[in-house]
Amino acid sequence: MTTATPASASAAPRAVRTPSDLSTQSSLSALYADHLAEQQRRTEHALQRGGFDALVIASGIEKFAFLDDRPYVFQPNPHFKLWVPLVQHPDSWLVIRPGHKPRLVYCQPEDYWHVPPAAPSGFWVEHFELIIVRRAEEALPHLQVPGRLAVIGEADAALGELVPNNPATVLNPLHYARAVKTPYELMRMREASVLGAKGHLASQRAFREGASEAEVHRAYLTAVGLAERELPYGNIVALNEHCAVLHYQYQDVAPPAQSLSLLVDAGAHSCGYASDITRTTGNGDATFQALLDAMEASQLRLVDRVRAGTDYRDIHLAAHAECARVLREVGIVKMEEEAMLAQRVTSTFLPHGIGHLLGLQVHDIGGFMKDEDGGLLPKPDGHPYLRLTRVLQPGMVVTIEPGLYFIPMLLEKLRATPAAAHVDWAMVTHLSAFGGVRIEDDVACREEGAPENLTRDAFERLV
Ligand code: GLY
Ligand code: MN
Ligand code: MN
Repeated sequence: MTTATPASASAAPRAVRTPSDLSTQSSLSALYADHLAEQQRRTEHALQRGGFDALVIASGIEKFAFLDDRPYVFQPNPHFKLWVPLVQHPDSWLVIRPGHKPRLVYCQPEDYWHVPPAAPSGFWVEHFELIIVRRAEEALPHLQVPGRLAVIGEADAALGELVPNNPATVLNPLHYARAVKTPYELMRMREASVLGAKGHLASQRAFREGASEAEVHRAYLTAVGLAERELPYGNIVALNEHCAVLHYQYQDVAPPAQSLSLLVDAGAHSCGYASDITRTTGNGDATFQALLDAMEASQLRLVDRVRAGTDYRDIHLAAHAECARVLREVGIVKMEEEAMLAQRVTSTFLPHGIGHLLGLQVHDIGGFMKDEDGGLLPKPDGHPYLRLTRVLQPGMVVTIEPGLYFIPMLLEKLRATPAAAHVDWAMVTHLSAFGGVRIEDDVACREEGAPENLTRDAFERLV
């Protein structure tokens, strides 16, 4: 380790969250070493393809509101947290070179206004050539290694003459490869799933006690042990007809007169790896419960399709066939399933994609890549919101999140079609007060056989 100045933490350390009940320290070290070796291999391959000598990665910079001194929540560069379990560290850098230990230039400012990053410690430190700097500008000489540099970061992370160039020839192979998780990453995502599942169970308890959306949200945060700013995405906490808003962004502080349904789409993270979980809960109403039960069975059938060699687009199309089946089983639409699909009736009730890649980002990058050269795989015609079109490989983690919603704007359009004659509009009116259903699990594709369901395994650990 080299330090530009002494490395004592000047305030309370910010610990990296590592749920210790899930792995022993020795297996963690071994998994992490293997993870880094795989990232080194992938990086050397990408550099060679792009004709570069070193990869320089900015963690990112803090950004401020216009004309103000209030920072936005810091969002680290995912390329940075791929290597180090650091998510609150602006102005730090990595240098990756063939044949060299990865270099981490760690910015630990002397700052009595804020809590600066603690002195580096933990399982990961020994794997890096560590250089500690006290000011962002001091990093520059440690980043100027010989040769052609591929510099990965936002434009405004530029440091003097070191300007991010983000070469596609290097990024494409890295993004393509990132879809396949290492065992270390899978372990982190299992940890994130357990945290998220804890939050969901607490949310459901709060709902049963008549809590408002804001109170359900707070119950979630308390159970997960994360502050709102640490969530991998803004919690969606919806009661009643709000469950029909796909990305409902508010939280009413007062409970409704009657709480019929709760939809929570919320995750957690472990060392920068996300979970993304949705659960919908009813109040015992028989019709809504029949819909929930049918959706549960349907979602599990879709999860089972996460198999190596399966085109994810086929799972999305299967989700529409499943939606038709549920609409018919529950009695919402009295049409043959084939006819519903032909007339695009299911798109009224399922107007989003069946899921996406998950990992360092909730909607992890690379979902449309045909190969590591950057070619794209198209979405099926008429399905503009699908976020993943790749063939599944062992180690990929995807979400499977079918929904069935009663969205007034889309129902009005359905009313104007011939299919409207086959819709039980009284039932639609009844169910519209519940908003809709979404069930979302995080699922890892295995070499062979049934997938690993990170989300359901996590809930099982907790009961
Ligand atoms: N939480 C956003 C999504 O499910 O994609
Ligand atoms: Mn999702
Ligand atoms: Mn989600």
